[in-house]
Amino acid sequence: MKVLIAGGRGRVGSKVADLLEANGVEVVSGGLEDGVDFLEGTRVAEVMAGVDTIVNVLNTPRFDEEGAVGFFEGTTRRLTEEGVRAGVRHHILLSIVGVGQGDASDIGYYFGKVAQERALAEGPLPYTIVRSAQFQGYVPVLADQHTVDGRVLAPRDLIQPVELDELVALLVEVALAGEPLGEVEFAGPERFHLDDLLRGTLAASGDAREVVTVDGYGPIDAMVPRGEYRAGKVLYPLRDIPLAG
Ligand SMILES: NC(=O)c1ccc[n+]([C@@H]2O[C@H](COP(=O)([O-])OP(=O)(O)OC[C@H]3O[C@@H](n4cnc5c(N)ncnc54)[C@H](OP(=O)(O)O)[C@@H]3O)[C@@H](O)[C@H]2O)c1
Repeated sequence: MKVLIAGGRGRVGSKVADLLEANGVEVVSGGLEDGVDFLEGTRVAEVMAGVDTIVNVLNTPRFDEEGAVGFFEGTTRRLTEEGVRAGVRHHILLSIVGVGQGDASDIGYYFGKVAQERALAEGPLPYTIVRSAQFQGYVPVLADQHTVDGRVLAPRDLIQPVELDELVALLVEVALAGEPLGEVEFAGPERFHLDDLLRGTLAASGDAREVVTVDGYGPIDAMVPRGEYRAGKVLYPLRDIPLAG
């Protein structure tokens, strides 16, 4: 088995590469650092040669709709076109819980992820979309994203953070099984309210920013699974944050 990891030197991709290699799998990394650009089409055919499985964990800093949609749609189409040429049998895409629900957050980045999933599903390659909840380690970044004039403005939205190594193990399990599964959702074992989670996390790190509870922009359950999902086992490392009832 030969696996191309699109984004193989990123936060998720580098861990997936290590675990696949530990399982004896031949891995090739495709990222800007490797001289591969899936948007521009640089060295794509070269890294795709002999690949049977793609793990797509690409990411972009573009949070505006035009930038995010252009990136996620364009790179997925490129991977699909070149993957078909190379005889790829399975395209595994990492997405986010809520993206498939039709009423996901209306920020540009989410439109990008919706377009990414659609580009994959409409294409000819057999696929698995693994939709993960937010990573535990990403919670401080969420606090920054909600900060306005030094205060964190957070709604009571539900959130079920996952531990990154458990997600990596799931992606590797799906790759090794070689069986396209369509859609799989993955979320952590505990459900919190976002404002409580940010308040507790900032307090534990001595961050003095005030967390103000505000009205949400959409449904309270837009970030958590609504149907069946795989649940992680690793609890959030801070134990005194109230769980959502
Ligand atoms: N954060 C969360 O809580 C969360 C939750 C669920 C799902 N996700 C999803 O997880 C995925 C991976 O996130 P991450 O944090 O691992 O991302 P990351 O650390 O930013 O890594 C992104 C990778 O994409 C590569 N890349 C960017 N533009 C490229 C291009 N044009 N051509 C080729 N490679 C390119 C980068 O290459 P270089 O390193 O060479 O620049 C890097 O290896 C994302 O799709 C995100 O939506 C995240």
